[in-house]
Amino acid sequence: MSRLDSFIRRLEAQRACLGRAAELVRGVDGVVLELGLGNGRTYDHLREVFPDREIYVCERQVAAHPDCIPPADRLLLGDMFDTLPAARFLTGRVALAHFDAGTGDAAANLDLAAGLRPLIVPLLCPGGILATQQAMDGADLIPMPLPEGVAEGRYHLYRRA
Ligand SMILES: C[S@@+](CC[C@H](N)C(=O)[O-])C[C@H]1O[C@@H](n2cnc3c(N)ncnc32)[C@H](O)[C@@H]1O
Repeated sequence: MSRLDSFIRRLEAQRACLGRAAELVRGVDGVVLELGLGNGRTYDHLREVFPDREIYVCERQVAAHPDCIPPADRLLLGDMFDTLPAARFLTGRVALAHFDAGTGDAAANLDLAAGLRPLIVPLLCPGGILATQQAMDGADLIPMPLPEGVAEGRYHLYRRA
């Protein structure tokens, strides 16, 4: 598969999984948390999918498209290893967390996901959903089926136990 095909499939899988996540949290009260603003693509999509929910965003350094910059009071600016433990107001209040903080380095992505996992899970409300490209298996997260057409392992959806 060419790198272009792989890139397209990754984004299609991401969009499909965010759509499925939206269905899964339909009956779950809570805010949305975007972990990794980047250029703001998925943040913008989440704004469309969740027009009535507060969306908080973690980002080390904002460099997003100007239309996709979150309001200052919804931005957790800085390294997530610092900002997530400080964001006590989010504990147990997140209905959907979307983790998209990786780079092209697969091993580093796995390390980052493993390091941040214990900081992300307590923010999820019971029944809350975590959507992530990196696996974050564990007893407190129940894997959910992926949407049709998304290859196993390409993305991950979990419900907090
Ligand atoms: C792949 S990009 C996000 C792409 C974005 N979701 C989009 O669709 O445009 C990953 C982002 O995560 C941020 N990031 C990575 N590690 C971080 C950390 N430890 N704390 C805060 N931000 C981090 C990077 O600065 C980068 O902007």
